[in-house]
Amino acid sequence: MAIQISSSLLFSSLLPLFFFFSSLENSHASQPTRKDPEINHLHLLHLNSLLPSSSCTSSTQDSKRKGSLEVVHKYGPCSQQNHDETKVTHSDILNLDKERVKYIHSRISKNLGGGGESVKELDSATLPAKSGSLIGSGNYFVVVGLGTPKRDLSLIFDTGSDLTWTQCQPCARSCYKQQDVIFDPSKSSSYSNISCTSPVCTQLSSATGNDPGCSSSTKACIYGIQYGDQSFSIGYFSRERLTVTATDVIDNFLFGCGQNNQGLFGGSAGLIGLGRHPISFVQQTTSKYGKIFSYCLPSTSSSTGYLTFGAANSRRLVYTSLSSTSRSSSFYELDIAAITVAGVKLSLTPSLFSTGGVIIDSGTVITRLPPTAYAALRSAFRQGMSKYPPAPELSLLDTCYDLSEYKVISIPKISFVFGGPATVELQAQGILYVASIKQVCLAFAPNGDDSDVTIFGNVQQRTLEVVYDVGGGRIGFGAGGCK
Ligand SMILES: *[C@@H]1O[C@H](CO)[C@@H](O)[C@H](O)[C@H]1NC(C)=O
Repeated sequence: MAIQISSSLLFSSLLPLFFFFSSLENSHASQPTRKDPEINHLHLLHLNSLLPSSSCTSSTQDSKRKGSLEVVHKYGPCSQQNHDETKVTHSDILNLDKERVKYIHSRISKNLGGGGESVKELDSATLPAKSGSLIGSGNYFVVVGLGTPKRDLSLIFDTGSDLTWTQCQPCARSCYKQQDVIFDPSKSSSYSNISCTSPVCTQLSSATGNDPGCSSSTKACIYGIQYGDQSFSIGYFSRERLTVTATDVIDNFLFGCGQNNQGLFGGSAGLIGLGRHPISFVQQTTSKYGKIFSYCLPSTSSSTGYLTFGAANSRRLVYTSLSSTSRSSSFYELDIAAITVAGVKLSLTPSLFSTGGVIIDSGTVITRLPPTAYAALRSAFRQGMSKYPPAPELSLLDTCYDLSEYKVISIPKISFVFGGPATVELQAQGILYVASIKQVCLAFAPNGDDSDVTIFGNVQQRTLEVVYDVGGGRIGFGAGGCK
C-alpha cells in the first residue's frame, strides 16, 4: 500500500483520494505508484473520523474474550452516566490534566513512601492537604461486580495508582453522586473488615502515601487517599469477592470501602488501581492473571475499547523493557530513544529522556515532554501543517488549527521509538486533540523543566493495544487494537 491508512474504517473512503494522489504524482502510469516518500509520512484522513458520533459503536470483538471488559470513555454516548449535571468542557479536562501531572511530578520527585500523616477516623481533615492526582475527566472506566450477591459497579481504571476502592453504605460521612447503586457491605455475605494490626493494613502507607488509621471501636483498618485539593476517599480497608467476568471470580480481594468520598469521579463508583504496588489489582490477581493486562482506549468517546486481564492473544506487538530504576512504587517506567515527525528523527541528545525518566499512564490525557523535545516536535509538526489556518490555544495546547473548511486533511505522522528499539507509530487520533473542527490541536505539551518525568499519556495510546507484561518486565504495543 502506498498509503498507510490509520484505520480500516477509513480504507474505503480514502481509496478515491489514493488514486487521486497517485495520478497526480505519475500521470502516465496506469497503476498507482507504490512509494511516494512524502505520502508515506502523512496521515490522510477525513475530518469526520476525528469527531465522536452521537451514538455508540462497540468496536471490539476482543471484549468477548475471557477476562476482558469493555472500556468506555467517561463522557460520551457509550457511557450510561448522566452527563447533564457533569457538563465538562475541553478546557476543564485539560486543566484537570495539569493537576494530575503536578501530582505525578511531586510523587516521583519526593518518592513518597508513606510516612505521611495517618488517617485517624473517617474525617477528611486528618488527610494532609497536599496536591493530588485529580482523577482527570479524560478517563476510562469498566464495570465489575463486587460482593455476594454481586453488585455491578463502574470503576475508573488507573495505571498510575494502586488502591481499588468504591463508595460504601452507610456513607458515614459523605458520598458523591454516582450512577450505580452504592455498594452496601452489610448486604454481602463475603465482605470482611481488615484489622489494623494486620500486615496488609501497613502496606497502605506506601500505596496511598498516608499511614493507615485504626477505628477505635472495632479496630478496623482505615485507609485514606487523596487525588487533588478536593478529591479523596476515606474508609475501611476490606476484603470482598470481586467478579471480573462471569467465569473470573477473585475471593478476598483487598479494596477500600469508602465512607467519606468527594471529588470529580464523573459519576463512577470508584477506581481500580492497576499500578505496580503489591496491593494493586495486578499484584493481587497474580495467580489468576499472571501479572499481565492489556487495554485499548477507543479513538473517540463514541466507541468502546477493552481492558483484558491475563495473557492476550497477541496481534503483532513490539516490546520495550520496563525500566528497573524505579523512581516510584506505582508507575510503569520505560525509555524513549527517539521521536520522529514526518519520518525525520528529532535532533535531541540521547540522555534527554533518561535524565527525568519516562512513565506510561492511562490517567494522564496529554503526553508531557521535556521542553526541549516539545519545542523540536512542535516546530516539525507546524512545518507539516503550515497550509492550515491557526486557531487559538486551548489550555495547555498551544498549536491549534481551524479545519472547518476541510473535509480531508493530511497531518505529519509521529512515531515514538521506545528502548529496544520499539517503534510505535501514533494514529492520527493519537496526535490531535479535537475540541471542535474549528480548534484541532497538537495533543502534546511541555513539562516545566527537562528534568521532570516524561509522561506518555492516554490520547497518544488511543487505538493501540497496550500490553503490560509486568512479570516479564516489558510493555508491548500493537497497532489497530480498537477503533
Ligand atoms: C467493619 O468495621 C466497621 C467500623 O468499625 C463496622 O461498623 C462494621 O460493622 C464492620 N463490618 C464487619 C462485617 O465486621
